[in-house]
Amino acid sequence: MTDQRMLTGDRPTGKLHLGHYVGSIANRVKLQHQYETSLILADLHMLTTKNARSDIAEISGNARQMVLDSLAAGIEPERATFYLQSAIPEIGELNTLFQNLITVPRLERIPSLKDMASDASKEEMPYGLLGYPVLQAADILCVKANVVPVGKDNHAHVEVTREIARRFNHLYGETFPVPELVTSEVSTLVGTDGHAKASKSLGNVIYLADSAEEVRKKVAAMYTDPNRVRADVPGTVEGNPVFIYHDAFNDDPDQVADLKERYQAGTVGDVEVKDKLAAAINRFLDPIRERRAAFEAQPGLVDQIIVEGTERTRREVQQVVFEVRKAMGLAGAYNQLRRKAERAQKKAAAES
Ligand code: TRP
Repeated sequence: MTDQRMLTGDRPTGKLHLGHYVGSIANRVKLQHQYETSLILADLHMLTTKNARSDIAEISGNARQMVLDSLAAGIEPERATFYLQSAIPEIGELNTLFQNLITVPRLERIPSLKDMASDASKEEMPYGLLGYPVLQAADILCVKANVVPVGKDNHAHVEVTREIARRFNHLYGETFPVPELVTSEVSTLVGTDGHAKASKSLGNVIYLADSAEEVRKKVAAMYTDPNRVRADVPGTVEGNPVFIYHDAFNDDPDQVADLKERYQAGTVGDVEVKDKLAAAINRFLDPIRERRAAFEAQPGLVDQIIVEGTERTRREVQQVVFEVRKAMGLAGAYNQLRRKAERAQKKAAAES
């Protein structure tokens, strides 16, 4: 355990699935032992593409669900601080100040922002979406994070944070650590339908909250080698989602090796391969289910964890904003006006 701070997080858009687990959550569970850990529920970032009243109405439920999923997956509330971005208005203040430390063409060159715009069917780039990485810099620097584990789609954003931190320090004096980007892409998981990415919108995911029966149904319907029309036809293991999931989640490597061998030889049926996969995923999810049940048995606990984390973080961010205003000389600008106003007031009072 160092005294280094790690920050990462997600937009509160829904439940976590196995793709999230292998892509980021497993890594967070490990890193929480190495770093002081902050996890942001980035609802202001969600607004850059989803800002209907109906989307906003889902924030609290989604945040609760995501935190519960994270705790069930092994994030420890004693180690990690969760906080809701929109409940810390000082983050918005930093965002405003940071907007002057980066140029529009620099942001326009970031491909992930264009991808998000087109994914959200936006014909033109919303101003807030162009500023997504600047807001992210505010998230990261408001707690003076040293380490930011994110997937590839967020690398360019953390690069912007590093530039903003350097630029700020150069203009106003050493204030922020320049955070290190660590890639959290342990691996990406294919969808149950064989699509390159497991994603909620594609409906090809197994949720951490799925029941054993849901897992069995989803695995039974999984895409597999399409050329294998019968159990005695030799099949392909490479790139086959069923075996990718076996490799990722089956804790019995001998069983996996045996299934692969028989699959390639055409001596095992798909049903057996899938039954064993469903059983393996359920073994993997069982401890997660147990921890979930323990948290759920204490109503309001998850909400309390979020609120305490948010309040603690807010106090810390207020200190950082104070320091920022001081470094920039902004505090001084208003103090000069105020002192003069006070003097004038006193003078007027003395003369009356
Ligand atoms: N941009 C991240 C996403 O893709 C969420 C996020 C917001 C974030 N602020 C952050 C991640 C700060 C790491 C650090 O959903």
